[in-house]
Amino acid sequence: MLETDDPIIEMHHLSLVYPNGVRALQDIDLVVGKGEFLFLVGHTGSGKSSLMKLIYREHDPTTGAVFVDGQEITDMKRSQIPLLRRRIGVIFQDFRLLSHKTAFENVAYALEVTGASRADIPRKVTKALTLVNMREKAGRLPGELSGGEQQRVAIARALINDPLILLADEPTGNLDPDSSWDIMQILSKVNARGTTVLVATHNQQMVDVMQKRVLVMDRGVMLHDLQRGQYVPAASSRPALVLEGV
Ligand SMILES: Nc1ncnc2c1ncn2[C@@H]1O[C@H](COP(=O)(O)OP(=O)(O)OP(=O)(O)O)[C@@H](O)[C@H]1O
Ligand SMILES: [Mg+2]
Repeated sequence: MLETDDPIIEMHHLSLVYPNGVRALQDIDLVVGKGEFLFLVGHTGSGKSSLMKLIYREHDPTTGAVFVDGQEITDMKRSQIPLLRRRIGVIFQDFRLLSHKTAFENVAYALEVTGASRADIPRKVTKALTLVNMREKAGRLPGELSGGEQQRVAIARALINDPLILLADEPTGNLDPDSSWDIMQILSKVNARGTTVLVATHNQQMVDVMQKRVLVMDRGVMLHDLQRGQYVPAASSRPALVLEGV
């Protein structure tokens, strides 16, 4: 689904140079419509994680602007950042669950820190765990769950505040093929409920089967933006770095 007349994420002339001088992103222009599902692909170091970090303001861009749901976040006050992050769910390759809390408590904690009413917490947590098929294992600690199960709990936690956007940074990077497909099914379901989903991945097969919009990054540049695309290895479409500038 492409509804660029109703954008949820916009980036204009965005660049990011890290304090150590690494130029991670260069002149990125991007419009993501509400309810879209996108893959972000490209070699290691091409800038996928950096681009995601700008969306939830873990970093500020060096130049350019980022808008989320029509609001410019790049000039937002620090005090507003927690509110922004509540509208954006994030999951990572390494799950990042709290090891001493159960699945239920991990998800509940994300609600508690936002000051949610205590009375609402059990119902909301159970609903989120049911969505990811983890209700029966709600009482287990992360160490008692498989990788795929831990990632499902992490998705439930990311969704607990009904975010507009779900950012998934290599969500299947540590999982076997079956668990990876489970996670992709769940992300599709989340998308079908209206959440915009952006997935950074190296999983070529997944991208090819899903037939979603694919953004191809190469050394900080957005090389391709393909509707219903396939995985494009950036190296085949651009000369090798070693020959450039020689
Ligand atoms: N905090 C940081 N400080 C300095 N340089 C960084 C930082 N984070 C990333 N980089 C550099 O910025 C570039 C882009 O990195 P990024 O993590 O965005 O790539 P990526 O596409 O997510 O790679 P991968 O597929 O390995 O996850 C790389 O050259 C990386 O070394
Ligand atoms: Mg990355």
